[in-house]
Parts: sequence; C-alpha cells; structure tokens
Amino acid sequence: MSAILVFGATGQIGRELIAQSWPDGLRVIGADRASADITDRGAVGRALARMRPLLAVNAAAFTAVDQAEVDTARAWAVNRDGAANLAEACAAQGVPLIHLSTDYVFDGAKAGPYTEDDPVAPLGVYGASKAAGEAAIRTRLARHVILRTAWVFGVHGTNFVKTMLRLGAERPALRIVADQHGCPTEAADIARAVATIAGAVLRAPAAAPFGTFHYAGAPPTTWHGFAEAIFQRAAARGSKSPTLTAITTAEYPTPARRPANSMLDGAKLQRAYGVAPCDWPRALDRVLDRLVGATATP
Ligand SMILES: NC(=O)c1ccc[n+]([C@@H]2O[C@H](COP(=O)([O-])OP(=O)(O)OC[C@H]3O[C@@H](n4cnc5c(N)ncnc54)[C@H](OP(=O)(O)O)[C@@H]3O)[C@@H](O)[C@H]2O)c1
Repeated sequence: MSAILVFGATGQIGRELIAQSWPDGLRVIGADRASADITDRGAVGRALARMRPLLAVNAAAFTAVDQAEVDTARAWAVNRDGAANLAEACAAQGVPLIHLSTDYVFDGAKAGPYTEDDPVAPLGVYGASKAAGEAAIRTRLARHVILRTAWVFGVHGTNFVKTMLRLGAERPALRIVADQHGCPTEAADIARAVATIAGAVLRAPAAAPFGTFHYAGAPPTTWHGFAEAIFQRAAARGSKSPTLTAITTAEYPTPARRPANSMLDGAKLQRAYGVAPCDWPRALDRVLDRLVGATATP
C-alpha cells in the first residue's frame, strides 16, 4: 500500500495526522525526532529513501514562540534548516511535500484578514525562522504546498484550550488579552485538510495547485473571546468557570511580540482544493467533550 510519511509525528498536529483516515489506498507512517531529526540532512534523506513515500508532510517545528527568542539557534535550525533539508531530500527523491507554517509570519499591521500575497514581516524569531523555512522550500522544491495555519488547539500537546482549563481550575479570575485578533483552528481539522490536499496532489501529481495557502478556523476572535467560548462550554460540562477580565497586550508583556491581527483569509485554498475554513466553535465542542466530559452544550 502506498504511504504518506509524516515528520514531527508526535506533535499536536502530527498525532492527528497519524490518527486521520486517509484517502483510499493510502497509509500513513510517522517519523519522530528520534527516527528522523529534520536538522540532520542525512537522516531526512535516509528516512525518505527507506520509506519511499508518495508524499511527505512536515509537522515538525520548534513552536515555543517565547522560548525561540532565547533558544534562537535551535529555532533557526529546526524551522529554517530543517525545512530546507526536507525540501532538498524531497526534490532529490521526487516526493511532493506539504509543509505546515504559521500566521506569525505576519506583523499584524493589516486591517483585514491576510491573503497569501501579503508580504511577510515577522515580529519575532519564531515567525522569522518559519518565514525563512517557507522561503527555503520555495527555492528547492516546486511540488510543495505550504499550509499556514493559526492558534492551534486540540486534545494533544500544549495549547490555549488546555492551558485555560488548567488555570480555570486553579484560579477564580483570569486576565486575558483582548486586542490580538486571530483564528482558532483545531488540530484534527488541520489533519483533515492535509489529507484532502494530499489526496488531490496524488491524483494529479504534476498538475495539482502547488504553492502557499491559508487554512484556519472561522469566525475570527480574540484570545479573550476564545477564552469566553472555552469557559462557557466547559461550564456546561461541569467545569469551573473563572471571572475573565479583558486586558491589552501592553498589560501582558511576553518575550516575543505577537501580531495584533493574524486573521487568515482561506479563500485561495477553498478555490484550489475545495477545503473551506473550519468552524472552530463546533471543533471546540468536540475537543471539550474529550477533555472535560460530555454533557449538553450551550
Ligand atoms: N501550535 C500552534 O498554535 C501553531 C500555530 C500556527 C502554525 N503552527 C504550525 O503547525 C506545525 C505543527 O505545530 P504543533 O502545534 O503540532 O507543534 P508541536 O506540538 O510543538 O509539535 C512539533 C513536533 O516537531 C517535533 N520536532 C521538533 N524538533 C524536531 C526535529 N529537529 N526533528 C524532528 N522533529 C522535531 C517535536 O518533537 P519533540 O517533541 O521530540 O521535540 C514535535 O513532535 C508547525 O509547523 C507550527 O509552526 C502551529
């Protein structure tokens, strides 16, 4: 049976890619950091040569936005050089690549949602290293899909939903930033989008619409709006609900600056692959059913 090879298979999106049901006739193989460290050019090439996949997906990245400001060398090694290694090996072995990237390549100065044609202008090391990874792929591999996504949440790994549930159980009140606008996106929805894109690419390996695309949840919100939705739904499932206070970014300083607006416009992906922006409130219900327990939703 023909295979899809997923790098970064133990991350929050990687795990959903492994759990995902793939189009007919495809099976998925996961590579973690121990079996294929993407900063190791030789290891990446050997993994592709051994598995001989029809398509590769890169879900491996250094994603700790604040830590990237201090662990700079590692962020660049994984997010730029790792992406370059993958693109080079894929080009050498004739394998198309779907690579995940981020809304944090933008500076947030735009008034509306970002399209794929908007110039990148990252504010921190994480965004800059991801933007450099994208550029490295574009120059090395024609058959690539760079899929930028945003504000990822799900049942695995560390994410805003799980952090809110933990803090909400510990504290009676939380102060949440209300002047950053973005699009929460469920990891499992991203995995489904990737599977749809992979199926289309493999049906038309030479003619598929390659390039850069945006995929994120709708409607846009703020971290405060996202927290309200989390606690409203979690309370309906019997979880504790703290008082939320809306604050500004200036009141919550972090090592890395974050864009005030990182809303992503998903129209290009919908036109090219028929994949529409996902409904994050519904996805949140699914995730909370697994994290908190199932009762009636508000
Ligand atoms: N999380 C978000 O909110 C968000 C938002 C927008 C875009 N994205 C993008 O989505 C993608 C996946 O993110 P995620 O949230 O699933 O990240 P994650 O949970 O942090 O997972 C990243 C994975 O990459 C692996 N990895 C790190 N360094 C590696 C290396 N040198 N070689 C091989 N694997 C390595 C990690 O393994 P170890 O655990 O062993 O280090 C982990 O399994 C990334 O491209 C990220 O930029 C994420």
